Amino acid sequence: MKLSVSGRAATAAVVAVATVLTGGSLAGAAPASGPSVLAAPDIPLANVKAHLNQFQSIATANGGNRAHGRTGYRASLDYVKAKLDAAGFTTTIQQFTSSGQIGYNLIADWPGGDPEQVVVAGAHLDSVTSGPGINDNATGSAAVLETALAVSRAGLTPTKHLRFAWWGAEELGLVGSRYYVNSLTAANRARIDGYLNFDMIGSSNPGYFVYDDDPVIEQTFKNYFTGLGVPTEIETEGDGRSDHASFKNVGIPVGGLFTGASRLKTTAQAAKWGGTAGRAFDSCYHSSCDTTAAVNDTALDRNSDAVAYAIWELSD
Ligand code: TRP
Ligand code: CA
Ligand code: ZN
Repeated sequence: MKLSVSGRAATAAVVAVATVLTGGSLAGAAPASGPSVLAAPDIPLANVKAHLNQFQSIATANGGNRAHGRTGYRASLDYVKAKLDAAGFTTTIQQFTSSGQIGYNLIADWPGGDPEQVVVAGAHLDSVTSGPGINDNATGSAAVLETALAVSRAGLTPTKHLRFAWWGAEELGLVGSRYYVNSLTAANRARIDGYLNFDMIGSSNPGYFVYDDDPVIEQTFKNYFTGLGVPTEIETEGDGRSDHASFKNVGIPVGGLFTGASRLKTTAQAAKWGGTAGRAFDSCYHSSCDTTAAVNDTALDRNSDAVAYAIWELSD
C-alpha cells in the first residue's frame, strides 16, 4: 500500500489551508481533528544546531572531515547512534565495503506501527574528504536525528512504522543507500510506503526546493511551506544526485527537500527568497569552508520543522 493522505491527515491538511487563509494558528484551529497530526512539533533550532556543532567538532578532531573510511565518519555514526539508543530506538549498523574501505549505514526503527506500512526518512552522514560537510550533509543528518528524538519525546504511536536512516558513502555514488535497498528482500522492499530524503537543507544563500517525485510526499512538503508563506520551487539541480535515487530506482515512492548547491541563485529567486542573486546557493559546496559558519539558520529551522511535519502527517 502506498502513501495516501487520508483520515486525520486529510482533515489536518484542510485545516492547515484554512488556517493560512485566516492567519490563525494551527494549534487553536480544529476541534474536529484527531490529535496526532496537530501535535507535529516545532523542532527546536537550538537542538539541530547543537548536533551541527558536534559534527563540526568531530571533523575538527579527525583531520577536518567526516568522509567514508575516515575516523570522522565512524565518530559521527557513534554520536547519532548513542542519541537514538538513549531515546528508545532499535538501532542497527549495516556494514559494507566501498573503495576498499569499510562503510556503515545506521538504521533506527521506532517500535510499533504497522510493519506492512513503513515510512523511512534518511540523510547521508558522510562528508567529502575536502571539508567537514556541515551543510552537506550534517544539516540533513541533524534534522532527521532531531525529528527522531522528537518522535521519542512525544511518545508518538503512529499508524505506520517509522524508520530513520543515516547513509554512508553517498559522496562515492550513493553507495550506502544502494547497498541497503539491495539488501532488502522483495517483501521488505514492498513494505516501504515512501522514502523522504534530506541532503543539504541549510545552504547559506538558500532556495526552498521540493523534490518533484511522489505527489503525496511533494504535496505534504508544499502544504508546510504554504503555511509558512514561503514559496517553493521544484528541485532540478541534478535529479538522482542523492540517496532517494536508490529507492526510486526500485519503485519506492520518494520525496525530499533541498536548499541548493553550486547552482547560482537567479534574480527572480532572490526577489522571492532574499539572499544574493548571481551567487551560488552554497558557495562552500564540497569545500573546506562548509563549516557551521556557512549554514543559514532560517533555512535550517524551516526545513527541520518541515521534516517533522511530514513525518507526523505521512505516518498517521
Ligand atoms: N548529493 C549531492 C552531494 O551530496 C548534492 C546535490 C546536488 C543534491 N544536487 C542535488 C542533493 C539535488 C539533493 C538534490 O554532494
Ligand atoms: Ca523550529
Ligand atoms: Zn550531500
